Amino acid sequence: MNIASRFQTPLEDTPQVTIHVDGNAIMVSPGISLAAALLSYSGGPTRMTAKGSERTAFCMMGVCFECLVDVDGTPNTQACMITVREGMVVKRQIGLRRLNGGGDV
Ligand code: FES
Repeated sequence: MNIASRFQTPLEDTPQVTIHVDGNAIMVSPGISLAAALLSYSGGPTRMTAKGSERTAFCMMGVCFECLVDVDGTPNTQACMITVREGMVVKRQIGLRRLNGGGDV
C-alpha cells in the first residue's frame, strides 16, 4: 500500500538534507523527526509485523513503538525520537528484529 503524502511539501528555498530510505535518496527539511520525514515521503507503512500487518508512526512521542525502523544498521530505532541528519540510511523493517542488532528473528 502506498498513499499520497498527507503533508505539504517544503518551500523550494528551504535548506534540505538528504536521507536514504530503502535505497532511495530523498530530500527532507532539517530538524524534523525521522518519522515525520517518512510520513512526508510516502505516507505508507514504515514496518511490517511478523504476521505481515503494516505499521507506521502513530503517537509521534515515543510511546507506541509503531515507528520502528533500521537506521544506519541499528534495527528497532524509534523514528519519532530522532532528528534527520545528512546521509542517514534508513530501511523499513519487515518482520521481527533481534534486540542485539542482528537481522531477522
Ligand atoms: S510513533 Fe509512537 S513510538 Fe514512534
